[in-house]
Amino acid sequence: MGTENMQPSRVLIDRHRIASRVRELGGEIISDVREQRRSHEGDADGPSVVLVPILTGSIVFVSDLIREMPLMLRVGVVAVSSYPGATMESKGAKIRSDLPPDLAGKHVLVVDDILDTGRTLALVKRLIAEQQPASLRVCVLLRKLTARREEELVPDYVGFDIPDEFVVGYGLDYDGHYRNLPDIVALTEASASRA
Ligand code: IMP
Ligand code: MG
Repeated sequence: MGTENMQPSRVLIDRHRIASRVRELGGEIISDVREQRRSHEGDADGPSVVLVPILTGSIVFVSDLIREMPLMLRVGVVAVSSYPGATMESKGAKIRSDLPPDLAGKHVLVVDDILDTGRTLALVKRLIAEQQPASLRVCVLLRKLTARREEELVPDYVGFDIPDEFVVGYGLDYDGHYRNLPDIVALTEASASRA
């Protein structure tokens, strides 16, 4: 597929739908956390909660999500790159920063913008599991319905299932651009006359 003329064209999920779904997700997550803590013997508050957002795509999502989660929590980011340059194909995931330390015994929630092949989340989950957290869950805003899924990865929380299209906005980028669009927009090839 040519990549020079790609531009955001069609709103797939607008800002209002995103906001109300993020509010619902926050509610689901905190009620699960409270449940997990109740079932944790001998400790009234239970293990503490750490969100691990995957940079850079999850920045907008996680900043909205944590404000829908009125409980004590910490945030520790991890940087992973999967689409170097102007490409829409996953080239495999690479960790670009240290993982947050001290996740042992914590309720860890990994947050990402989108699940595509599953490589990014599988890698991050594998590395965090080595630290032996009390629990390890995954929340994605978008899950692409794609045949390219390589890793057996079932997220615990999903904002929206979307068709197998390349999307930008609300933190998601194409070659570093369009993260600041407030809606989630499909990227399509511009017609030659408009390029
Ligand atoms: P995976 O490792 O193939 O699951 O890819 C996940 C990562 O690829 C996400 O964190 C995104 O950064 C990026 N990605 C996958 N699909 C899209 C898309 O449609 N638009 C923008 N980024 C995407
Ligand atoms: Mg990303």
